Amino acid sequence: MTAIRQLTGRRVWDSRGNPTVEVDVYLENGTMGRAIAPAGASRGEREAIDLRDGGSRLRGKDVRRALDNINGPIAQALIGLDATDQAGADQAMLALDPSPLKDRLGGNATVATSLAVLHAAARDGGKPLWRHVADHYGCAPSLPLPEIQIFGGGAHAGRRVDIQDFMIMVPGAATLDEVMDVTFEVYFAAGDIMARRGKLAGVADEGGWWPVFDSNEEALETLVEAIELAGEKPGERIVISLDVAASEFGRDGRYQLALEDREMDSGALIDMLGGWLDAYPIAAIEDPLGEDDTEGMIAFTRRFGSRVQIIGDDYLVTNAALLDAAAAADACNAVLIKVNQAGTVTESIAAFDAAQKAGWGAVVSARSGETEDVSISHLATGLGGGQLKVGSFQRSERMVKWNECLRIADEIGPGTFVGGAPLAQTWWGKEQA
Ligand code: PGA
Ligand code: ZN
Repeated sequence: MTAIRQLTGRRVWDSRGNPTVEVDVYLENGTMGRAIAPAGASRGEREAIDLRDGGSRLRGKDVRRALDNINGPIAQALIGLDATDQAGADQAMLALDPSPLKDRLGGNATVATSLAVLHAAARDGGKPLWRHVADHYGCAPSLPLPEIQIFGGGAHAGRRVDIQDFMIMVPGAATLDEVMDVTFEVYFAAGDIMARRGKLAGVADEGGWWPVFDSNEEALETLVEAIELAGEKPGERIVISLDVAASEFGRDGRYQLALEDREMDSGALIDMLGGWLDAYPIAAIEDPLGEDDTEGMIAFTRRFGSRVQIIGDDYLVTNAALLDAAAAADACNAVLIKVNQAGTVTESIAAFDAAQKAGWGAVVSARSGETEDVSISHLATGLGGGQLKVGSFQRSERMVKWNECLRIADEIGPGTFVGGAPLAQTWWGKEQA
């Protein structure tokens, strides 16, 4: 046992220039762990809340109350506890705030604290974080397959297109290095095409191109063109992945596609997305229906679940109980794991375990508001969950995560990249076989 001696929160700033919280955890032997809370823009209604001060200061976004909670009650509860007992530390915070959305302590306060404890325990054991995670949770570590955004949309690009993320995956690559090479070519080919056509407005929140497209489908067409311009055949080494983030434009089974000036019901949205699945090499689709549209999610999964990965993000908010219910109802077949949706490492691992039990894939994910914190690169590798989503291929709060994976690749050694082989046996292989 190595006890926590001191715990301090400080205010730092995220990739959107918003204040957020950083926590330092010091152990009795002087070891230190540090983590920073990220922040979402297209947040699920059932995820842990970011506690912000409100009022007029910093447009209501300041985090002094969350910091007071860290430096006050959280520090008091955690000092003296064993840092290597992650569940014990997280439980101590849950005892202080049993509310479902952590609105007393703030999910931002609890997630930074929980991850800082994890970092401290890893250092105390003399291990890189990915190794500590693998050992602590009994997982076989492997380098994840990246999902990399090429165009941003939805809440991350002024709703310029309705769909939030147009991404690629390179399951045909043999190494992470190869994924980076291929992504570079596709990302800049897409930028060139858009600039040439006057369709490029800059860079969106997660580093993907901010498009001036006239329809959602124009984004898909342009992405296919970019893949071809990069010298690739779409659907071979490279596949497309979408985050529809449908809760952002739909409620009660009615969906408003602003860009196309259309309102549709769940059935029409499912038909439209199904048409895209037929026309484009899409291997994964996230939140195709709204978080309140369980019937729609079930209908979508019934029709397409055998040929495409259907990822619940806002729909599941990294919650084991919601995942169990979705698995029983066949309402998707994979989960996005965002530690700050759950609010603690322990609850995120519970959601990951529930996914394993259901035979689902798990995609560890960043938020649209990020920082230099690289915890998720280690979590994705340590859990061996298979996939990692951190945004695009530009801006340091994104690249720092990919770069950390490349460092981990050197530590972990070759042969553990979840590119071709293991993934081909699961969802991607089904269509290829
Ligand atoms: P958010 O978006 O971090 O703004 O919620 C990320 C996602 O929806 O995957
Ligand atoms: Zn999402």
